Amino acid sequence: MGRRSILLVNVLVIGSGGREHALSWKLSQSSKVETVFTAPGNGGTKNNIPIDVDNLDELSDFAQKNNCFTVVGPEAPLAAGIVDKFNQKNLKIFGPSKLAAQLESSKIWAKNFMKRNSIPTARFEIFDNAQKARDYVNTLDYNVVVKADGLAAGKGVIVCNSDDEALNAINTILVKKTFGEAGNRIIIEERIDGVEASFIALSDGNVAIPMASSQDHKRIFDNDEGPNTGGMGAYSPTPVIDESLTKKIQENIIDKTIESMKNEGISFKGFLYAGIMLRDGEPYVLEYNVRMGDPECQPITMRMDFDLYDYFVASVNGTLSSMPSISWNEKFAVCIVLASKGYPESYPVNEEITGFDSVSNDSYVFHAGTKHSDGKIFSNGGRVLGVTALGESLDSAIINAYDTVDKISWNSKYCRTDIGKKGLTYF
Ligand code: AMP
Ligand code: GLY
Repeated sequence: MGRRSILLVNVLVIGSGGREHALSWKLSQSSKVETVFTAPGNGGTKNNIPIDVDNLDELSDFAQKNNCFTVVGPEAPLAAGIVDKFNQKNLKIFGPSKLAAQLESSKIWAKNFMKRNSIPTARFEIFDNAQKARDYVNTLDYNVVVKADGLAAGKGVIVCNSDDEALNAINTILVKKTFGEAGNRIIIEERIDGVEASFIALSDGNVAIPMASSQDHKRIFDNDEGPNTGGMGAYSPTPVIDESLTKKIQENIIDKTIESMKNEGISFKGFLYAGIMLRDGEPYVLEYNVRMGDPECQPITMRMDFDLYDYFVASVNGTLSSMPSISWNEKFAVCIVLASKGYPESYPVNEEITGFDSVSNDSYVFHAGTKHSDGKIFSNGGRVLGVTALGESLDSAIINAYDTVDKISWNSKYCRTDIGKKGLTYF
């Protein structure tokens, strides 16, 4: 068969972060894909389409006109029902439906789902009344985490070290409404202290295949100090999740989630991300995300030795169980997020970034908050770049990634200097 007889498809990746650059980079390597469009994209993605992620009408019109298979990066359009909308128009789209996306869009829905299906998670109570919440905190003899129910751009979670902090958190979310309507109801749950890791699987509603393991670094400063961010760096695989733990998480958490969703009449298709806390070797679900992690996606994607497009199609068609098993590059991958100083609060933008020309072959610089103008690249967000490198060992991947980090500069460049180091203690 000549190449001409193969029908190539176009892909539309929705989003503008490092995750979306990594997905579009990988999908453009597929022999079945003609053009990858990204909406709205960033300074690193090609074929950018200036449509916002929440403009579902224009996105679906674009996908229809351009014969696209669509891949959704971030949670907001999933929670808004983009998959349902595309399905109504008979357009192929990878990701969970609005109902399935509740696993992320309502933390209360997710906690109740875990409780009724015996999926291990921290014990909790739900409140919409501040006084009742305060009274409850005063009865507890352990530390808590206070969470806004709805989506709050990763900020609606307050980890407390004392009752006073918990009372303040209740005030912030439920009384001051700092996160708006997302904070109409809160969860107060037990704080679980332990080691955190990310476990991400790809599902077609029936089965779920695990992606490579990874570990994020959520705090802004070295040694996990300072406020939480979207993620300051990640590496894959992580020795924190060994083979027996992988099996336990896959069976007791991932498979059980997919099966329980199905039993409740909701087919979960797409990436299912479980944020895991390990306490005394036992995994607990801290949260679900219904999409790839960012920055976990960057090192995971770099290690994929398979055609990601085929697996996205199999997820949509419900045929994952008949796909060949996936294989991973045995090297380690490390992604270091370069941010602008001041992130996660306020930071400057529009600063020219230089040094891309001197990046060597074993690294790839994924863009996030950047834009392209007159052949130059400028900063345009808090997390700006994700420098990702492979190495034979975790140690060498870290060295390779930081070598590349040193070649790139702009005025307000900031990064942690210890990404991946917590993994080294396991070797
Ligand atoms: P989430 O958005 O729910 O993942 O929460 C953000 C971060 O808060 C997590 O990555 C953890 O570091 C922390 N966190 C959330 N829930 C708990 C918990 N029950 N115990 C300890 N830390 C938690
Ligand atoms: N890196 C964590 C997240 O994507 O939510």
